[in-house]
Amino acid sequence: MISINTVFSLLAGAIVANAACSATISSLSDVAAAVKCTSITLNGFTVPAGEGLTLSLASGTTVTMAGDILFGNKSWAGPLFTVSGTSVTFNGNGHKFDGGGPFYWDGQGLNGGTTKPDPMMKIKMSGTFENVHVVNSPARVFSVGNDDPLTLTGLVIDNSQGDAPNSMSKGLAAGHNTDGFDVSASDVTISNNQVHNQDDCLAINKGSNIVFTGNSCTGGHGISIGSISSGVTVSGVVVSGNTITNNDQAFRIKTDATSTGSTVTNVTYSGNTATGLRQFGVLIDQSYPSTLGTPGTGVVISDINFVAPVSTLTVNSGADQVAVNCGKGSCTGTWNWSNLKVSGGTSGPITNADVTGFTQ
Ligand SMILES: *[C@@H]1O[C@H](CO)[C@@H](O)[C@H](O)[C@H]1NC(C)=O
Ligand SMILES: *[C@@H]1O[C@H](CO)[C@@H](O)[C@H](O)[C@H]1NC(C)=O
Ligand SMILES: *[C@@H]1O[C@H](CO)[C@@H](O)[C@H](O)[C@H]1NC(C)=O
Repeated sequence: MISINTVFSLLAGAIVANAACSATISSLSDVAAAVKCTSITLNGFTVPAGEGLTLSLASGTTVTMAGDILFGNKSWAGPLFTVSGTSVTFNGNGHKFDGGGPFYWDGQGLNGGTTKPDPMMKIKMSGTFENVHVVNSPARVFSVGNDDPLTLTGLVIDNSQGDAPNSMSKGLAAGHNTDGFDVSASDVTISNNQVHNQDDCLAINKGSNIVFTGNSCTGGHGISIGSISSGVTVSGVVVSGNTITNNDQAFRIKTDATSTGSTVTNVTYSGNTATGLRQFGVLIDQSYPSTLGTPGTGVVISDINFVAPVSTLTVNSGADQVAVNCGKGSCTGTWNWSNLKVSGGTSGPITNADVTGFTQ
């Protein structure tokens, strides 16, 4: 007769032996068996239209890409790619995920027109996700919703093809709502990535301890917090050493005029460079969805600072250097902007915020 303990140790041995295996994914039918292993090679293949590639990985798994992943074209809700697991290393080795954007783009993004897979890349893992190229996302690109520390680095998001109008887009950029990184998570570092898109480079909706550093943002709506809805907290955000080129604004914090019970606190900008800003250098606005409309007071924004080294912004003629539109009493704490330099354009309004150290 075999003891219970022996059964347990046999089972434990089987699990360990299994986890140590290596596997290769060359089609969706390989996924279920492969994710039992902690060393996975992801070969290039085309995911059938209307299906997603979902990797629910064991703790400690390493995934290495060895080819490009394409997604068949079909109007559906997505996401196209989902990865989850703790302490995962996902290395793209410079290989691509191609979302087939031109098939979907109609200048309307998520506001109308055809249903688009969104987000394209859903990241629910902790660990490191690196060296992946994402081209032509139908709508938003990376959605980050992990619970444990995550670093996203060495990524290239190239939606430059979406800048041009197409036959559906009525003269507007065909790509729309193509946010680079949407973050609703804590303990996230996004470093040394390149983003060329038509919406926010980064949009933080909630979370704490979020670092955005050494990235380049081209063509979009800049580095954003918000829009902030009710009952959420954003705290401990560091935005440093980024290069922002031809965006609507460099930095924006926008809160819904009707939101209540939310806070945005401890946001620090340093050493960023921005040129070709089309609308604002910095925009902090509590009147969303209006721009510089009647602000709400239900979200408290506090401790928003520009620290050394200086951040240098150049805005286009006709653009506002800085616009701050707070409700009475809802922008508090320290707003020391002595390490912000803006040139070009015209000075904008600063309402209900005690900004110090910055001269328009
Ligand atoms: C999807 O359509 C786009 C635009 O026509 C094309 O570039 C892409 O190659 C197509 N994808 C596949 C997998 O056929
Ligand atoms: C502000 O945020 C930074 C980065 O997350 C953190 O290191 C620092 O302790 C925070 N400061 C306060 C006063 O909470
Ligand atoms: C703002 O920060 C600068 C640089 O750290 C410092 O010299 C200055 O005293 C601060 N101003 C206020 C009003 O705290």
